[in-house]
Amino acid sequence: MRNIIIAGNWKMNKDMISTDEFCNTLAEYFSNYEDDMVGVIVAPPYPFLQSASDVLTYTPVEVAAQDVSVHKDGAFTGEVSASMLSSLGVVVCIVGHSERRQYHAETDDIVRAKMLELWAQNITPILCIGETLAQRDANETNAVIVAQLEGCLKGITDISDLIIAYEPIWAIGTGRTATPDQAQTVHAMIRSWIFDHYDKDAAENIHLLYGGSAKPENIGSLLMQKDIDGGLIGGASLNVEQFIAMINTANEILNTRRDK
Ligand code: 13P
Repeated sequence: MRNIIIAGNWKMNKDMISTDEFCNTLAEYFSNYEDDMVGVIVAPPYPFLQSASDVLTYTPVEVAAQDVSVHKDGAFTGEVSASMLSSLGVVVCIVGHSERRQYHAETDDIVRAKMLELWAQNITPILCIGETLAQRDANETNAVIVAQLEGCLKGITDISDLIIAYEPIWAIGTGRTATPDQAQTVHAMIRSWIFDHYDKDAAENIHLLYGGSAKPENIGSLLMQKDIDGGLIGGASLNVEQFIAMINTANEILNTRRDK
């Protein structure tokens, strides 16, 4: 049975002090929690990766980066390589976020190259895909998602170390969440694409996260869906109480699944 993953993408938010406060509160929460847990990931900005890792060392929380360079090293001012992330103990990294695609012209080929760099360092990519509102309105959602999967996973035969996040662009930061049905439909389509292009094990084991205005009020109904294995949360992950509320909801859902 797949676990549930609650991942917080902080984007370009917080500073050293607020990172510390957030991570200390989260660490304290985990010190009181004994049950089997959902997977928890936080993705702070680069400058705070080290301190977040330090504070969260004795917790199950994994610290993720939000991006990585396609290059190994060299004259690429401002870039951060996969081996640098690895040397900090980073084990997960977001790639292909729509904000990177939109503001930094990241193509599927670039995203794919970044994933290869991450895998070479044993870092798990969280591959983000999703359609714009215009594409959804034109009934192009499936075609867009399939094109992104084909482009990003071209020639990649092993996806056992991969998380995919479906993030409809029209739902990101807009307060307009995809309905559980809308999200489930796309997640089911992604899983069936994986079944067709890889195998049953790959389709059954891969975690498919939903992202886009997820928050404590709606995370439960999203996680109740069969093919939604967690959330990649932006705005609502910045507040530690809200983040913990979503972890608690995910734990309750995981426990009911286990009781069945
Ligand atoms: P919001 O939760 O703020 O809509 O952001 C979602 C997201 O982009 C996570 O990567």
